[in-house]
Amino acid sequence: MQTPDSTSMVIVGAGHCGGRAAQALRTAGWLGPIHLVGDEPHAPYERPPLSKDLLTGGKQAAECALHSADDWASLHITRHVAQVTALHPASRSITLSGGQTLGYQSLLLATGGKVRTLSIPGGDLPEVLTLRNLMDAATLGSRLVPGHRLLVVGGGFIGLEVAASARKLGCEVTLVEGAPRLMGRAVPEPVAERALALHRAQGVRVLLGASPHSIARTAEGLCMALADGTQIVADTVLAGIGIVPDLALPGAAGLAVGRGICVNAQLQTSLPGIFAAGDVAEFPSVLSGQLVRQETWHNAETQAAIAAQNMLGGIDGNLVAYTAFPWFWSDQYHYQLQVAGEPALATHSATRALDGDGLLIFYLDASDTLVGACGWGETSRVAKDLKLARTLVEKGVTASAEALADPATKLKAFLSNAR
Ligand code: APR
Repeated sequence: MQTPDSTSMVIVGAGHCGGRAAQALRTAGWLGPIHLVGDEPHAPYERPPLSKDLLTGGKQAAECALHSADDWASLHITRHVAQVTALHPASRSITLSGGQTLGYQSLLLATGGKVRTLSIPGGDLPEVLTLRNLMDAATLGSRLVPGHRLLVVGGGFIGLEVAASARKLGCEVTLVEGAPRLMGRAVPEPVAERALALHRAQGVRVLLGASPHSIARTAEGLCMALADGTQIVADTVLAGIGIVPDLALPGAAGLAVGRGICVNAQLQTSLPGIFAAGDVAEFPSVLSGQLVRQETWHNAETQAAIAAQNMLGGIDGNLVAYTAFPWFWSDQYHYQLQVAGEPALATHSATRALDGDGLLIFYLDASDTLVGACGWGETSRVAKDLKLARTLVEKGVTASAEALADPATKLKAFLSNAR
């Protein structure tokens, strides 16, 4: 057993957030040991291409890496391909699956989440796949050949992006969503409706309010029965029904947990020297103060930097608060959607038509300050407007709904109303 080393920075979770935090520790000047523990064999990589370019052949796995091999080597990070089996806050150490103990000065938990699986009869058949990591993408990608019958369960980001990729590859795609609408977790209804129309126009058979009941292997292929008796035959089923943060380990160690690992604005958990960031962290929203969890690329990227800074004691002895506004995007066919801020906090909204069939919805609070924006349209035609809308939200612009909806007023003009 290795002696715990209290001069180390230890990061659990070698995904996007963990990998960025390791890099940020070096950027911030930390010269001591950095241990990065994760159960995937790959160096840290970004997940957005998994459901898109990696499936359609636009990108290779190596291109998803967070760092080039040379940059990664120059960071001198000790990688442990292992699971963490216990956290010992009292002795500031953790135990790995191989029995090794690592001591820490500061510990970051960036453990993300595990995919939910279909808990119905036949949900464990080998042709029923999930998509969370590079190996999952390779398995799914190898099956998506022209004429392949793909049944996607879940009309969230994974399900819809995979459906679009599979259509590009010439597959026959059916998508079943349990809720009455798509992307209910994070995307306002009007944009979800546009996405639904686009997928249907692209040849995806979309069934809403559809509840998978069982899957059986038959002579025709996999046969999924829905609760209403509908039967769908497919070659592959992909379950894109969300992720769940694994809270057993932090919970057992006495850390406060809720829907994620609870942290304050400085990303500190309830126990000294332990931070959490990324998909797993439940943190106070800068807009509302409410505890939120964000499963986004942007959240992983930006919280990693703050967590690393605070693991080292902050700046001039002051811990740094996480103040980034939420932001995410999804690419489906040649369309993109973006959501910035927190539309749910709005009291009213303003809809603006964009180029082509694009639209931009601004969300305002009672004092006409922007708290969110959600845009949709052909990427090449609306990208600039969506970027500008995000800036307006981040700057806390105040404007009337009428002015925001009026396409005669250029979006740039609202920058002068910034906070
Ligand atoms: N049957 C049908 N639909 C279901 C079922 C079910 N049994 N269970 C859940 N769903 C639907 C939900 O209603 C929701 O619309 O699956 C969808 C899941 O959507 P997300 O929560 O967005 O999860 P997912 O698409 O799997 O994405 C997982 O990857 O891209 C990232 O940001 C994304 O972090 C998220 C993660």
